[in-house]
Amino acid sequence: MTAETTVTTTAAPEAAGRLLDVRNLHVTYASGAAAVRGVDLAVDAGQKLGVAGESGCGKSTLALALLRLLPAGTKVTGEILLDGEDVLAMKWGRVRAVRWAGASIVFQGAMHSLNAVHRIGDQIAEPILLHKKATPAGAKKKARELLEHVGLPGARADAYPHELSGGQRQRVMIAMALACDPRLIIADEPTTALDVMIQAQILRLIEQLVAEQDLGLIMISHDLAVLSDTCDRLAVMYAGRVVEEGPAEDVYERAQHPYGKALSAAFPRIGDPSSRFAPRGLPGDPPDPSALPSGCTFHPRCPVALDVCATEDQSLRAAGAEHSAACVHVGAPVPEPSAPAVEGAP
Ligand SMILES: Nc1ncnc2c1ncn2[C@@H]1O[C@H](COP(=O)(O)OP(=O)(O)OP(=O)(O)O)[C@@H](O)[C@H]1O
Ligand code: SF4
Ligand SMILES: [Mg+2]
Repeated sequence: MTAETTVTTTAAPEAAGRLLDVRNLHVTYASGAAAVRGVDLAVDAGQKLGVAGESGCGKSTLALALLRLLPAGTKVTGEILLDGEDVLAMKWGRVRAVRWAGASIVFQGAMHSLNAVHRIGDQIAEPILLHKKATPAGAKKKARELLEHVGLPGARADAYPHELSGGQRQRVMIAMALACDPRLIIADEPTTALDVMIQAQILRLIEQLVAEQDLGLIMISHDLAVLSDTCDRLAVMYAGRVVEEGPAEDVYERAQHPYGKALSAAFPRIGDPSSRFAPRGLPGDPPDPSALPSGCTFHPRCPVALDVCATEDQSLRAAGAEHSAACVHVGAPVPEPSAPAVEGAP
């Protein structure tokens, strides 16, 4: 994102002890695509939150918004409280300081994220030097230690990305994400391009690092089975909204929203890539975020839609202990979080 991006914030009441507290986040691209529409999320230290949903539902947009990495002209409103400080209200110098050191992202497809012409040790050392966390010699030493920490020999620091396997490259990306000791890791489809065995290894590594270092984790995937195996809580997104949220096992085993049900039925086992774009039994495609359906945006595909669904949108309602879903068939509405609306921009 550049300085041209429009960011509107609301004044933040203290987020008591929360590592990350996202409130009423909206992201609209310059094209008019409303990719994120009123998302509330919270992550505590040591907690793993999974974000699931079909291709195009806004998962990566949400991840990029958290560190203000969206392209110029994108409109972002709401609050992103990282350790109580609103990322959307930060000056650019502060945003740069928070990236890597406060929170870092592991992207899908390590080959494209790593620079092909630089040795991996130098690439891991780069953010350490950028953030003045060590001298050049110290950064080099730390890069080797980080490689060993993610299960690669320190000597691989001298290798170029093309000399590593896909799984090894993803380990390098994780080492890089850990380089400046962040409190929060955002992993956007970190295992999608990997085979099932390597995927399981990388997931265990992420779990182990989160537990050891008391990090917060947001893990993004289209695969609810992978997320329920790794995460404490799950949020299911549809058309830029969280339509179901709750304890991971509860959401995976006892989904209440018709879309959550379809998604969990689509992934009977970890790593099944066949259902990435269309959960089985669900007709049609997710809507275009520039031309969303009226009412509940899921109604054109919903097998249990009522007449009212074409005109009335539903907010999240209690669907069990700490479990909520946005559907007319589910319990009573959950009270909205209150935040005073005050305009401001960095
Ligand atoms: N730079 C952009 N400009 C305009 N629209 C965009 C841009 N990036 C994404 N979009 C649109 O925003 C919506 C959400 O995209 P996003 O990449 O966040 O989805 P996703 O859930 O991460 O999908 P996937 O599972 O395929 O990675 C899509 O409709 C997409 O076409
Ligand atoms: S609100 Fe209506 S259309 Fe939306 S998920 Fe529930 S039943 Fe289906
Ligand atoms: Mg994505």
